[in-house]
Amino acid sequence: MSNILITGANGQLGSCLKDLSHSDSWHSFCYTDVDELDITNIEQVEDYVSKHNIEVIINAAGYTAVDKAEADVERCYLINRDATRNLAQVTKRHDIFLVHISTDYVFDGTSDVPYKPDDPINPQSVYGRSKAAGEAAIMATGCRAVVIRTSWLYSEYGNNFVKTMLRLGRERDEIRVVDDQKGGPTYAGDLAQFIMTVVGQRNFIEGTKFYHFANQGVVSWNEFAHQIMRNASLSCKVLPVSTAEYGAAAPRPASSIFDLSAVNQDFGFEIPQWQESLKKCMQKLSNQ
Ligand SMILES: NC(=O)c1ccc[n+]([C@@H]2O[C@H](COP(=O)([O-])OP(=O)(O)OC[C@H]3O[C@@H](n4cnc5c(N)ncnc54)[C@H](OP(=O)(O)O)[C@@H]3O)[C@@H](O)[C@H]2O)c1
Repeated sequence: MSNILITGANGQLGSCLKDLSHSDSWHSFCYTDVDELDITNIEQVEDYVSKHNIEVIINAAGYTAVDKAEADVERCYLINRDATRNLAQVTKRHDIFLVHISTDYVFDGTSDVPYKPDDPINPQSVYGRSKAAGEAAIMATGCRAVVIRTSWLYSEYGNNFVKTMLRLGRERDEIRVVDDQKGGPTYAGDLAQFIMTVVGQRNFIEGTKFYHFANQGVVSWNEFAHQIMRNASLSCKVLPVSTAEYGAAAPRPASSIFDLSAVNQDFGFEIPQWQESLKKCMQKLSNQ
């Protein structure tokens, strides 16, 4: 039985990992969030890993407020770069295994072909640059790690696009949603399952490897919102708006389409279509 540390366990992904772990008798899980283990403090990380004989760290923690990050640069880098470096250094020192989550925001979104994990990165926002710096910090330690870049993450937990659309759909007759950014929505429950597949097959991983993970299929935010309204039988109209008109603080990739083929090739993992996973999540939300 391996001891697995989950950081950021109260976030969206952390909560989905917790749900999965309840039916997993092969591993013993240590769930922590910032109150139990602040990953910006390397002594705390070192102590925790030693005391609990941790063999795998799953880093579900992060600074994820993309627009706020533009004015909160120091804190964003502290969590996304420096704390990631702490986890990688402890992973290396103890010769254990790290799963870290990164983002499509490391790309500039100008490519018209799907991004492969080894394509050159070119982040455009503070958040994107801080996550790219976290990836670089892992590579610099040479620890045994899998870095999974994901996009448009949502779940039944925390704050996310699906929950916001459902709230607005109930409150308003019409809303405007960006129609010139396309990408792959990712249900955090599916990502959690893939992470546990990677953990189960970690003996085959040497050094640091990168993967891209999103649900199958490509949509714009506007089409995604339409589908959410349809699934919830809400009559709220979803009108188009351009990224420029919408005017968010942080720039976003116009096209963040991933090449997902390595997920199946290397792990035999079948990624569900986005429509199927959206239904699954909305079903869970309606049971809450
Ligand atoms: N959300 C997306 O659309 C998206 C897209 C692509 C990639 N990702 C990546 O996916 C990962 C998981 O995202 P998520 O949406 O599940 O994030 P989330 O819901 O924001 O959860 C992150 C968790 O990390 C905690 N945390 C912050 N600072 C910490 C620290 N110093 N020590 C320990 N825990 C700390 C947060 O606590 P507080 O809430 O108290 O700060 C929160 O509970 C992140 O790496 C993110 O960059 C997310």
